[in-house]
Amino acid sequence: MSDLDLVNNVLEIKKFPDPVLKKVSQPVEVFDEELAKFVKDLFSAMRVHDGVGLAAPQVGVLKKIAVVEYEDKSYVLINPKVIDQKGLQEGEEGCLSFPGIYAHVTRPQWVKIEAQDEKGETHTYEAEGYTARAFLHEMDHLSGKLFIDYLSNLKRNAIKAKVKKNTGGHF
Ligand code: NI
Repeated sequence: MSDLDLVNNVLEIKKFPDPVLKKVSQPVEVFDEELAKFVKDLFSAMRVHDGVGLAAPQVGVLKKIAVVEYEDKSYVLINPKVIDQKGLQEGEEGCLSFPGIYAHVTRPQWVKIEAQDEKGETHTYEAEGYTARAFLHEMDHLSGKLFIDYLSNLKRNAIKAKVKKNTGGHF
């Protein structure tokens, strides 16, 4: 398989303001081969686009599934929920659905989450710093929440204007 085939087979990432990004995803109830394949495809799309995380709604699938990969650790987050959180961190954040756009977002410094893997087994993960930020950013996607929703109206409108410019105004 050539590099071109690889790119051609990759799931297409939905860009803001695609309305699918604002929808709430449904819980996963069936843990089958199809789900395992989809998780693999999500990882592939994330890696091709150099992301640290990707959520199912970003490829148009409204299911509570996300993947995160940071510092050589990979996480499958199916039906994830926050169990506990502590502290606050501020840092720059981007999103594969907002190419070239970054903004400062305040989030908890530490989180404890529970999530299922593609086999349906439940895992608990504790993470801090950037990994915690990635978990929370991806989990937000599953509720239709975007990182720009944390910004002031002024900053959010500036980003919307920039996106509009980038896409030639095709909303
Ligand atoms: Ni994102």
